Amino acid sequence: MAFNLLNKDIETLTCPALVVFSKASSQKDKLAKVTHTELHKKLAASVEEKAISGKHQEVVVFRELGYKGFRHVIVIGLGKENKIDHESVRQSMASAFEAIKALGTKEAAIHFDGITASKKDAADFAKATVEGLILTSYVFNELMSGKKEEKEINVHVVTKLANDKAVKAAFNEGVVLATCTNFSRRLGDMPGNLMTPTILANSAVEAAKGTGLKVTVWDKARIKKEKMGGLLGVSNGSAQEPRFIIMEYKGAAASKKPVTFVGKGLTFDCGGISIKPSAGMEEMKYDMCGGANVIGTMLAIAKLKLKINAVGLVASTENLVGPEATKPGDVHTARNGKTFEINNTDAEGRLILADALSYATELEPQIIIDAATLTGAMVMALGNTHTGYFTRNAALKTKVEKAAGESGEWVWHMPLTDFHVKDMKGTFADLSNMSSGKGAGSATAAAFLEQFVGEGIPWAHFDIAGTGWAVGNRLPYCPRKGASGVMLRTFVEIAKQHA
Ligand code: BES
Ligand code: ZN
Ligand code: ZN
Repeated sequence: MAFNLLNKDIETLTCPALVVFSKASSQKDKLAKVTHTELHKKLAASVEEKAISGKHQEVVVFRELGYKGFRHVIVIGLGKENKIDHESVRQSMASAFEAIKALGTKEAAIHFDGITASKKDAADFAKATVEGLILTSYVFNELMSGKKEEKEINVHVVTKLANDKAVKAAFNEGVVLATCTNFSRRLGDMPGNLMTPTILANSAVEAAKGTGLKVTVWDKARIKKEKMGGLLGVSNGSAQEPRFIIMEYKGAAASKKPVTFVGKGLTFDCGGISIKPSAGMEEMKYDMCGGANVIGTMLAIAKLKLKINAVGLVASTENLVGPEATKPGDVHTARNGKTFEINNTDAEGRLILADALSYATELEPQIIIDAATLTGAMVMALGNTHTGYFTRNAALKTKVEKAAGESGEWVWHMPLTDFHVKDMKGTFADLSNMSSGKGAGSATAAAFLEQFVGEGIPWAHFDIAGTGWAVGNRLPYCPRKGASGVMLRTFVEIAKQHA
């Protein structure tokens, strides 16, 4: 697939397919408008009959219409004209891409200038357009023996503003963000046997080549030497070695404190000795999506050459039941010296993040952001629409809300209090990995993590258990069943705020 910004007059173009848009009127009983004036006239009867209604994501295909240099014309609904924003554009592009694919042509032109007449919106919409297209183009079929070769499609986003600096930069940013998101999705979709901690680390090393990122990978011996007792303890039950992945990006003076991202890279979580029920256990290959999305975030930051310093940290292991596996009641010591008793081996994410957050703290960063498929309780609380995030730092909360809003990702601020911290006190060690209280399982997990973040460092924890994969048919540019790559776009936006 190739997607490019094309500076050409749409009238003089020859291409098998043309995509234009329709907008529903904000006034009742008023007819829709096709964004291309001449086509509006040509298709007036369809508008009159409300076959073109402008409804959001409506797809109307006119095969062999023979309009100027175009054989086919596709009309995509953008929704009510006063409600069009970057997210509705992103979603409409999913419909556009599916319609182009269904047509079977190798090339299509998108009439971008018709979406907005406002120069102010143009950059935002250009970014959303290409994000919607690339995110929708993602398929994971490399493990199918009889897979059909995906047809190569060239999509031109045609606009007179193609040479405008802001529009061009926004489009390129959209390409990077969506491509990196698709990269992260693939890591998530790979099954546990083909995405072990070692393979995950190697994938990060491979992908970072040529980006300027420095990637360091710690093996089991080094992890032990570095006193990462949480990560080591979880990996005890597995034949696969754990890995600690460090991705460093330098885009600013060495004196500038880094922005740090931390990810849970559990390549398979069966629960350990406190084993999970069989039903749905196969989904636990996705327990590394936080890590995958942090790797994608770091790749995007480097490709966009942001003027910041950033470090991505991914703690990666399996959680299995081998003879050396951690037993309920065992006590381990994290890198920062705090001890914890493991009363449920299935609450393992917090143990590996404990070491990663301790390490992040040592870097004296501007902020620490982490992503983890941490708790089933988060799925119960928010389902698969919003990512719940925890922070006690008001300034960081503002940054997160702004970044998510600009990225078109849904987040929800969750409570984290000293009561939750109290619930995580241990009986035989400093901490327990299980709450002594009832309910609020996501908040108590966050409270546990907080014990490993240095005092005064702004920190936000994103529990992506409900949004990391299988987001259903809510977002047309996300696979119904596969990994979503969630929070990558928001994280890059947060990084940009520190430039
Ligand atoms: N990886 C799971 C959390 C999870 C569950 C993610 C369902 C996505 C969907 C995590 O390691 C876990 O098992 N957490 C336990 C913690 C509990 C034992 C305190 C949970 O949520 O049940
Ligand atoms: Zn678990
Ligand atoms: Zn887990």
